[in-house]
Amino acid sequence: MKVTIIGAGAVGATAADNIARKEIASEVVILDIKEGFAEGKAMDLAQTASIEGFDTRLTGVTGDYSKTAKSDVIVVTSGIPRKPGMTREELIGTNAQIVGGVVRNALEVSPKAVIIIVSNPMDTMTYLTYKIAAEMGISKRRVIGMGGALDSSRFRYRLGEALGVAQSDLQGMVIGGHGDTTMIPLTRLATWNSIPVSRFLSAEQLKEVADKTMVGGATLTGLLGTSAWYAPGAAIGQVVEAILRDEKKIIPSCVYLNGEYGQKDICMGVPVVIGRNGWERIVTLRLSNEEKAAFEKSAAAVRAMNAAL
Ligand code: NAI
Ligand code: 2OP
Repeated sequence: MKVTIIGAGAVGATAADNIARKEIASEVVILDIKEGFAEGKAMDLAQTASIEGFDTRLTGVTGDYSKTAKSDVIVVTSGIPRKPGMTREELIGTNAQIVGGVVRNALEVSPKAVIIIVSNPMDTMTYLTYKIAAEMGISKRRVIGMGGALDSSRFRYRLGEALGVAQSDLQGMVIGGHGDTTMIPLTRLATWNSIPVSRFLSAEQLKEVADKTMVGGATLTGLLGTSAWYAPGAAIGQVVEAILRDEKKIIPSCVYLNGEYGQKDICMGVPVVIGRNGWERIVTLRLSNEEKAAFEKSAAAVRAMNAAL
């Protein structure tokens, strides 16, 4: 199994680290535009193999897509990250140029790959990728935007903090757009080992958990001066693993909607079953009226961004 990661920056390299350590793939190729950068990151990571005990081969290349040929999964992290005070949406112009170019180059030599889009604004970059993939005759099921996996882990972090319990004992997901105002943490459905968390947290506390989850990325950007990478890298690893190991896991992800959740011609975060061929089906939740209204509002914001694209 071969994975290509485009962009050897903070997020791309951390994803490569996760995939190699867990031996999710036998081969990881990292590609960057900056001369020698991907080669350096790949070499540094490869020098952890005998310590960590993994056999995944890591290679770095500068702009040479031929080395990425016949990949099973392509992860796109190339682009500029957020600076403090900057919204994901402000990245659109620069990142659309970068993402459009790399997606075409990568899919040309790996037409059977599942492609995971990470670059922001992620919902719009996924929509752009969906359009390019459609032109190239590639199924919509092979285009996945990663945002929900990360936002859901931040949601469980905040739930764990509020409840004072282990995060690994919590279930909860975030749907909608991957934006500070567009994501929808589903507090009503979150559970602590199958018990609804609303048994233990007041409506006020749940709202605070949701609010903190929504600004999770911005909080870290404020602290770090750039966007986060450990949890994003781990979340990418989770999605890649679900694909390569054909896990059929439900991971909320940004996918093309054609009437599902009342939306058409848009890519947004919804629960999907992920396996070897990408997203295999959309799980339809029975949303409350309040959640439905939030989803519609989120869709309107994503649509406005797509129009700017
Ligand atoms: P970074 O600046 O550390 O790395 C980006 C890399 O992309 C750089 O090494 C740069 O040289 C490379 N690059 C730029 N243009 C390229 C091209 N045409 N071809 C190949 N490589 C190219 O940024 P970081 O922190 O890794 O973030 C990457 C992206 O991921 C950003 O857009 C960020 O906003 C996004 N992000 C998305 C998350 C999500 O959940 N969807 C979470 C965290 C970050
Ligand atoms: C994050 O959520 C900025 O999308 C990036 O950390």
